[in-house]
Amino acid sequence: MARKLSILKCLILCCIVYALGVTFMLGFYSLSAVNINSCPCPETIINKHVQSRSHLADQSAAEPRKDNFSKGDNTSWDQHKLGVIVPFRDRIEELVQFVPYIHSYFSRKKVRHKIYVINQMDNFRFNRAYLINVGFQLSYNECDYIAMHDVDLLPLNMNLNYSYPDKGPFHVSAPGLHPVYNYPTFIGGILLINNKHFEMINGMSNRYWGWGREDDELHVRLKKAGLTVLRPNNITTGKQTFKHVHNTRNKPRDNKRYFDQSSKTSRMDRETGLKTAKYDMISTSSLVIDGAPAEFINVKLYCDIQKTPWCLKPQDHHLVSKSTMVVPKPLPQGKEPPKKD
Ligand SMILES: *[C@@H]1O[C@H](CO)[C@@H](O)[C@H](O)[C@H]1NC(C)=O
Ligand SMILES: *[C@@H]1O[C@H](CO)[C@@H](O)[C@H](O)[C@H]1NC(C)=O
Ligand SMILES: *[C@@H]1O[C@H](CO)[C@@H](O)[C@H](O)[C@H]1NC(C)=O
Ligand SMILES: *[C@@H]1O[C@H](CO)[C@@H](O)[C@H](O)[C@H]1NC(C)=O
Repeated sequence: MARKLSILKCLILCCIVYALGVTFMLGFYSLSAVNINSCPCPETIINKHVQSRSHLADQSAAEPRKDNFSKGDNTSWDQHKLGVIVPFRDRIEELVQFVPYIHSYFSRKKVRHKIYVINQMDNFRFNRAYLINVGFQLSYNECDYIAMHDVDLLPLNMNLNYSYPDKGPFHVSAPGLHPVYNYPTFIGGILLINNKHFEMINGMSNRYWGWGREDDELHVRLKKAGLTVLRPNNITTGKQTFKHVHNTRNKPRDNKRYFDQSSKTSRMDRETGLKTAKYDMISTSSLVIDGAPAEFINVKLYCDIQKTPWCLKPQDHHLVSKSTMVVPKPLPQGKEPPKKD
């Protein structure tokens, strides 16, 4: 009798576990099905945008598009074309959200664009500004302005102005709109600048290895060149203007300062920039993520460890103290942007 009872108990228990399992799996399935394109966003976001975004999700979840929407470029939209420069390393979860989303966003706004993901392959610390200089060189022939675009920032407001900034750089993710940063000279996140102006300031400094401050140095360069940063003036969605994609794996920021990094990066860099941004091109691939195209470019950056030893990761610091310095040999000719006809 006792035995029968326990078999019965076991059966009941199994049924419960099975039912829970099915429920969980279904729930998980529907979650993952909506995850990439219709991201779970705060309810506070204006209804209109949520609707238009789920509409987009439906589209990109469907069969490959038969129209030419997938190219993100149509010369009848505009005479100008935007190079979306995404400095990148080890954030694939964010990239698979970013590319389809931003491609749909720009296509709906009829912003001609091409996405350049610049992947840092060397063993130095991450260098966002240097990667942007490289991305600019690569987009130069095809695009006449760039957006330096953080991969974790998705514009939700369709009224944001991404058009050609003829008068000066345009800071899309302005203080007050950016979900995190809010100080008057902040120009990080998303900044538009035309090719002419970016060349005029010699791009960004290549000395900012590790996280942060490179955009503050850029601000000084712009100021010195007499360029005024313009910002949105009719956006009323505040901190809900962008979705900040939070990484599930919590990656610590590499914001330590090593050697004389703090003093060497606290004032304007008059030596390095676009003209000295040499790199090795390892490979390029044309990706399509959920129907959205992007160029994925693997590059290796250069570091002179005598001048900027803080490019080394801590485990490589012993290289500096050695008498035989490891100095990368420069390319024969600076890879400067080719001139347009
Ligand atoms: C898409 O572009 C191709 C050429 O790239 C062209 O042959 C085709 O007709 C276009 N399709 C549409 C629907 O415009
Ligand atoms: C380009 O855009 C125009 C106007 O929006 C549209 O009529 C045309 O079909 C588009 N061409 C392609 C190839 O998508
Ligand atoms: C704000 O500017 C954009 C263009 O940048 C425009 O499309 C929009 O209608 C303007 N007004 C509002 C209320 O967003
Ligand atoms: C968008 O920005 C461009 C250049 O920054 C400017 O010329 C244009 O007037 C702006 N459009 C609107 C609607 O504000």
